[in-house]
This record gives sequence, C-alpha cells and structure tokens, in this order.
Amino acid sequence: MATIDLRKDYRLSGLRRKDLHADPFRQFDRWFQQALDSQKDEAHAMTLATADAKGRPSSRIVLLRSYDENGFVFYTNYESRKASQLAKNPHAALSFFWPMLERQVCIAGSAARISREDSVVYFKTRPHGNQLAAWVSHQSEVIPDRETLDDGLKRMEIKYRGRKIPLPPWWGGYCVKPSSIEFWQGRPNRLHDRFRYSRQKNGSWKIERLSP
Ligand SMILES: Cc1cc2nc3c(=O)[nH]c(=O)nc-3n(C[C@H](O)[C@H](O)[C@H](O)COP(=O)(O)O)c2cc1C
Repeated sequence: MATIDLRKDYRLSGLRRKDLHADPFRQFDRWFQQALDSQKDEAHAMTLATADAKGRPSSRIVLLRSYDENGFVFYTNYESRKASQLAKNPHAALSFFWPMLERQVCIAGSAARISREDSVVYFKTRPHGNQLAAWVSHQSEVIPDRETLDDGLKRMEIKYRGRKIPLPPWWGGYCVKPSSIEFWQGRPNRLHDRFRYSRQKNGSWKIERLSP
C-alpha cells in the first residue's frame, strides 16, 4: 500500500464565536471575498455531493456562479447523472476548500432548479464556445470517441454561425438552499475551530461550536 507521509500544521488564524456574523450568508460572503483575494484560481470551485434514490452517493466539482440568502447556484446539464439523482433525491451537500486560508465551508441542503429566465440570463454571459458546448455535450452519457465531441462542435459552429445561441432545454441552474452551513478554520495540533449554523423552523439560525 502507498503511504503518504505529508503533514501540515494549521497556524494561520483562529475563528471565535464573537467574530461570526449572525447571518451565515454574510459570514460566507466575508470568507468568500477573502478566498478570492488569496486564491486567484477557482476559489469558486466546490464539491457537490448528491445521492441516488437508494442513498448511494456521488460527488464532483462544480462552479459556484451566484449566491444570496436563497442559496448557492451552479449550472449544469439537467440530464446529467447529478441531475437525475437530484430529481429523485433533492438532498445535496457542497464543500469548499481554501488551502491558502486553511479553511473549509460545508453546506447541506436541498437543490431545486432555478427559473428558465434566470438560466437564460446566465447562459448569455457564457463565452461563445461554452454556449455551443452545452448543445454538443450529453453530459454523463457514454460516447465512442473524442471525435464525437469535436465533430459535434463543428456542426454547432456551422448551425449557429452569425446567430444567437439559445439556451438548450436540457441546461440550467440549480440553487442549493442550505439547512446548515459549517465554517472550519484549521488550528494547530488538529484542534480546529468549527462553527455550524443550523436553520431553525422560524427561519433564524442557531450557531454551535463543534468538536474538531
Ligand atoms: C474545476 C471544475 C469545474 C467544473 N464546473 C462544472 C460546472 O459548473 N458544472 C458542471 O456541470 N460540471 C462542472 N465540472 C465537471 C463536473 O465535475 C462533472 O464531471 C460533470 O458535471 C458530470 O458530473 P455527473 O456525471 O456526476 O453529473 C467541473 C469540473 C471541474 C474540475
């Protein structure tokens, strides 16, 4: 068995109860802005975990495209593996790891499709090639070879030359509405700081410190 003898002690910072914003979205915003400042590349990349109807999990990276007090939005193919899982089981989890800050954020909640109008607005902001790719890729399906994609792209380039590319009917956003958001700050000797915000029935948030 390959063993990995790498160790890092986390010493950058601490997280105290009195430093936390009462609103987890404001707290996320603060940390996310700091992550963007410290980690130029893909600080908005997050692991999305879903599970099928039998509870068998799968995970993959997706990109956070917007967030507000309603939740965290990413875009994908509505016929992909993740989408068919979410159709049967909307429970989802997101996690961010920002190594430059020795921080992690873990979100658990429920995912729902955003409106087609909102997906259209976002789709229009995508680069031309990415828009075409959304028409080409039947995400998560088995394909015979690379040419399938390259030829598909050429066909779409011809089809949409000089025309606006519409949003494919199978493509759009999901919003993960959180029921809990945990903020993790690495500390020396693995005695990290963890605070979990849990949404209460009346809509308020309970904040608790968790053991590392
Ligand atoms: C950095 C990075 C960003 C990605 N962003 C997205 C994204 O925003 N949306 C998406 O559908 N897939 C994205 N992917 C690809 C997914 O990880 C995954 O391969 C794809 O969505 C298919 O997943 P599924 O078969 O589980 O549905 C990204 C991958 C990486 C490594």
